[in-house]
Amino acid sequence: MKQISITTQFTSFENVQELPNEIQDLMAQAIEVRKNAYAPYSNFRVGVAILLDNGKTVLGSNQENAAYPSGLCAERVAIFYAGAVYPDAKILKMAITAASDTNQTKAPIPPCGSCRQSIAEYEIRQKTPIEIYFMGEIGSIYKSESLKNLLPFMFDKKFL
Ligand code: THU
Repeated sequence: MKQISITTQFTSFENVQELPNEIQDLMAQAIEVRKNAYAPYSNFRVGVAILLDNGKTVLGSNQENAAYPSGLCAERVAIFYAGAVYPDAKILKMAITAASDTNQTKAPIPPCGSCRQSIAEYEIRQKTPIEIYFMGEIGSIYKSESLKNLLPFMFDKKFL
């Protein structure tokens, strides 16, 4: 018997002003598009901005449904849009922000498990890491150099 451990790494920024300018701009777009979330059931709004290697920025917000599972998270709205419209572009960076209508979120809010799996598919497909920054409404921002830190021991096509 032996123990196996996996270490993952994040960088923490105290606030938006501490981010590199390019990321401040990306996060500002995520914050802006968060307003477009259709979240009448959870009152929890998520905004995402993705920077592609063709210079385009793609945005997404969560879209809910009265049949709850039919709704979709902001990360997948954005990443599927990128895949649909710019199938040959690589995803370089992703900025995520989440805010509740009922209380102020201060902790960095990471993408859910299903979104991590979806982002993993794109990272594996493009063979280059996706930088991911995530925050709540205010407070610190966490940065991951790759989706791998958020989903260690991931399932991917090599197992099929
Ligand atoms: N949500 C996202 O958009 N991204 C996540 O990673 C977690 C959750 C959305 C889904 C739902 O509309 C609301 O937040 C509450 O779960």
